[in-house]
Amino acid sequence: MTSILLTGGAGYIGSHTYISLLEAGYTPVILDNFANSHPAVLERLQAITGRPAVCERGDVLDTPWVEEVLRRHRIGGVVHFAGDKAVGESVAKPLKYYRNNLGGAVSLMQAMENAGCGTLVFSSSATVYGDPQSVPIAEDAARSHTNPYGHTKLVIEDMLAAQRVAQPDWKVAVLRYFNPVGAHPSGLIGEDPSGIPNNLMPFITQVALGQRPHLQVFGSDYPTPDGTGVRDYIHVCDLAEGHVAALKVLLESGRSLSVNLGTGQGHSVLEVVRAFEAASSRPVPFQLVPRRPGDVANVYADPRLAQELLGWRATRTLAQMCADAWRWQSRNPTGYRTA
Ligand code: NAD
Ligand code: UD1
Repeated sequence: MTSILLTGGAGYIGSHTYISLLEAGYTPVILDNFANSHPAVLERLQAITGRPAVCERGDVLDTPWVEEVLRRHRIGGVVHFAGDKAVGESVAKPLKYYRNNLGGAVSLMQAMENAGCGTLVFSSSATVYGDPQSVPIAEDAARSHTNPYGHTKLVIEDMLAAQRVAQPDWKVAVLRYFNPVGAHPSGLIGEDPSGIPNNLMPFITQVALGQRPHLQVFGSDYPTPDGTGVRDYIHVCDLAEGHVAALKVLLESGRSLSVNLGTGQGHSVLEVVRAFEAASSRPVPFQLVPRRPGDVANVYADPRLAQELLGWRATRTLAQMCADAWRWQSRNPTGYRTA
């Protein structure tokens, strides 16, 4: 079966996509420098799949090496997850983001062109919609950016469009993720943020474990039903299956596309807290505090185009997202460092 290179495949979304690809009959190959992941994930993947995980350790910025990896594994398609993703850090260290995210994409695309591989799935983000004019957000909504991280996603989308004009045989799927949460139901792999989590779900799981005293709910005066921010949380296993569906379309129909990967349903911060308490049977104490700068009130996807073009839609519930996030965190209180 076709070999698929997963840059950043040792990370949170990449490791889940690795499993879905294997289940769908592809041969996934991980390429990662472990800048934001742990090699122990490879043993966990082997435990789940019953097969040793194939991993090339190195940097996507190293174009000749990436080209050599593409050729040696006879790669038929690439999923590009590798990059830095912390919004706050990108404001403090913009050059790190432009170098790794933009430089990484240029390097990968050059290596692919050299090796004659033009099939690429790219991890974009709902952040490219900036502060949306209305919800649900469809793919033709205006794009903008409010921080260097978001800017890199926008520019990479544009670079891919330019490359498709120059190389009409390239097949590209741009996947705009909404808010990925949850973990594989085995409890063996999951999200393992370093330091204080920026995102809601990993913060909640650490509060439930007693590692942090309480959650700060950023803003309770938004124009939403309970005043707290509303987002489109999507189970990471649904997201992983979306990648398989996108690759199938690229490989079988040769059609390029840009689609949202979300559920189409918004949940407030307080709804997530309540769902998590129900799933974990643990209290999640919280304090209402002022809004986080840069946050917007209400973000959820119009998921219809993904269903139409990919034949894919998210099926897992918020309760499953919370139960799976809790299973992972409670069995691995210090993430992969317990391995
Ligand atoms: P992650 O940090 O867990 O995974 C990224 C992986 O890339 C890590 O394993 C890291 O070691 C690797 N990496 C980084 N720079 C590299 C380089 N130069 N060479 C080789 N490997 C490198 O992040 P994730 O949550 O799995 O996100 C994957 C992708 O999805 C990212 O591009 C991110 O911007 C995008 N995304 C994530 C979210 C989210 O909420 N997690 C939302 C929207 C988009
Ligand atoms: C953040 C990023 C976005 C990225 C997305 C998915 C910012 C400004 N945006 O979006 O670029 O694509 O993650 O990784 O960082 N919340 C709390 N308390 C917390 C943490 C979060 O109340 O401790 C609230 C937020 O205000 C928001 C919701 O929970 O309403 C979700 O927050 P978060 O998980 O950080 O995701 P986003 O803000 O949607």
